[in-house]
Amino acid sequence: MNSPRSLIRPLVRRLHAYVPGEQPKIKGLIKLNTNENPYPPSPRVLAAVKAAVDGRLRLYPNPTAQALREKLAKLHGCAPENIIVGNGSDEVLALAVRAFVEPKQKAESRKQKATVQYFTPSYSLYPVLADIHGAAKNVVSLKPDFGLPSVKELKRGKQWNFDAVLTFVTTPNAPSGRGYKTPELEQLCRAQKGVVVLDEAYVDFANENALKLALKFPHVLVARTFSKAYSLCFQRVGYFVGHPELIAALDKIRDSYNVNGLGQIAAAATLDDLKHYRANFKKIISTREWLSRELTKLGFRVLPSQTNFILAQPPKFPAKDWLQKLRDEKILVRWFSAPEVRDYLRITIGTRAEAQALVKAARKIVAE
Ligand SMILES: Cc1ncc(COP(=O)(O)O)c(C=O)c1O
Repeated sequence: MNSPRSLIRPLVRRLHAYVPGEQPKIKGLIKLNTNENPYPPSPRVLAAVKAAVDGRLRLYPNPTAQALREKLAKLHGCAPENIIVGNGSDEVLALAVRAFVEPKQKAESRKQKATVQYFTPSYSLYPVLADIHGAAKNVVSLKPDFGLPSVKELKRGKQWNFDAVLTFVTTPNAPSGRGYKTPELEQLCRAQKGVVVLDEAYVDFANENALKLALKFPHVLVARTFSKAYSLCFQRVGYFVGHPELIAALDKIRDSYNVNGLGQIAAAATLDDLKHYRANFKKIISTREWLSRELTKLGFRVLPSQTNFILAQPPKFPAKDWLQKLRDEKILVRWFSAPEVRDYLRITIGTRAEAQALVKAARKIVAE
């Protein structure tokens, strides 16, 4: 009899899976580690979801999330054919790899076109998606301040591949929180021959967005999610906006009922109550700026953020030690071991009370 291990594809055996942030069971812990929204969905969204929990659960949901795509199209000034909805934006990112990238063994040349390309640091799911698919990766560093290198600089650096079939850009960047200007993104898009995905998971907390590039260029897709700004991580709804031909290709390879029914209802109800959410963005941004100032006073080096988290270099002790010290104070933040960010903590912006508790704990640790 074959061992179970021998039944698994070598690629999968070797694979390092994506590591999600911890979802602790400990009571009373202030959870600032996974960039969730500290505020619940609006009362209208909760009511819509509750009202849908009935005998309908036995039925399949709308296979194309039609009503939601129509509302999104209206919001973004495009057609429903410009939009594909996924089980979180993670799903549409994965679909892009499957639709546009040949696995390694089929690639033609050394300077491979069949490459998934992205900057580092950025969203740690991209390498995992490439590895699952057996795709080649091209990983290029952002500038030391996490700025986007210009096309000129990328050409000079020679490592960037302008022919890559798929390029991911996290904008605003995660985990640095740095925002990018639409003209610099446009310059990069113009220079790329393959598909460019602008992953705008955090864009509602930023000064600007680049959605118009997805409607201007046939090879640009913008990814959005209801998880962060719209308090719907639990429901898993995200989407791409882009050219109808790219969208149709992605549509061909998704699961038939990829977006669950309650998720579709929650997301559609969210779009009917945007005023509520815009007030939340303002609160989160104001807490972000307050927290940045307070931590700076305590000796932290806080990078400017356009997101619902900050990247901050703590004083006195290594960042990894701070992770434990804050945990001892019942505050959970995130630390990444990657060399570019290992000196920093990534701190999700919670409520003002949570931010105050963090500052209080940090003050205590600094005084140790
Ligand atoms: C940059 C970025 N993109 C996409 C996602 C995925 O969001 P979701 O799958 O919840 O829509 C995340 C979540 O952490 C993220 O940080």
